[in-house]
Amino acid sequence: MSKSHLRAAIAHLPIPDWRYQDETGSTNDDALQWAAQGAPHLALVAANRQTAGRGRLGRSWQTLPGAALAFSLVLRPAVHVSDWLPLYSPLGALAVSLALESDWQLKPQIKWPNDVLLGGRKVCGVLAEAAWQGDRLGAVVLGIGINVAPSAVPPEALLLFPATCVEAHSGSPVDRWQLLARVLDQLLARLGDVGSPAFLQAWQERLAYLGQSICLEEANGAMVNGRLAGVSVQGHLRVLLADGSEAQYSAGDVRLRPADEISHPSGGG
Ligand code: BTN
Repeated sequence: MSKSHLRAAIAHLPIPDWRYQDETGSTNDDALQWAAQGAPHLALVAANRQTAGRGRLGRSWQTLPGAALAFSLVLRPAVHVSDWLPLYSPLGALAVSLALESDWQLKPQIKWPNDVLLGGRKVCGVLAEAAWQGDRLGAVVLGIGINVAPSAVPPEALLLFPATCVEAHSGSPVDRWQLLARVLDQLLARLGDVGSPAFLQAWQERLAYLGQSICLEEANGAMVNGRLAGVSVQGHLRVLLADGSEAQYSAGDVRLRPADEISHPSGGG
């Protein structure tokens, strides 16, 4: 049963409290609600199935039972780190990438700001949400969704970007709860590094399309073409424009695509 497998997989971790739901709307919603009720730092919510999973920029995120990971971690960073909020979702992507590299010998890339790709296709999405108490940062909820088995991958027609799953690349079955535990190992090891030069270097080393032509779609539909130059210390995307100048974009403002991507019509995941 999933709950006992999860319990065993995370037993070695300093997780003070956790909840497992066989079915829920969104683990981020559950974790935000729990945070408002006083959930401790590193409290974990995991689900077998999500019926209303949410992604970035208002997109939906499908989680079918038995085939994917959907979990959210409550973080209670010190007040002064609120400037680094945009770096928490890349932290999630970095932790997933490091786990896939070290335990499954895969070569993931991070599509800015925080999608994890395998073979150029999206295998994981991350959604970090802040819970404010007045003007004080009460908690950050870091939600991570990973397609593990082939049945987790939504039909191509529903996707904005091509998707894949871990097992398509590992070539053998992957235990979801072991993967969750390895991701948490990596995440906890790097939690104190958020915003450091080492953190930014680790993120940038895995950045998809680095040095390549890319296209950014702004909220008003305008397109910007350029060459991907890296990430800034604030986590902004650095883009070299045709006139030789450099522009920076924040994650909430633009959608990144490789210049040669075939566009897909609608949907999330
Ligand atoms: C994205 O790619 O836009 C981010 C997707 C994030 C999905 C995860 S699944 C666990 C957590 N609960 C949610 O409702 N969303 C995140």
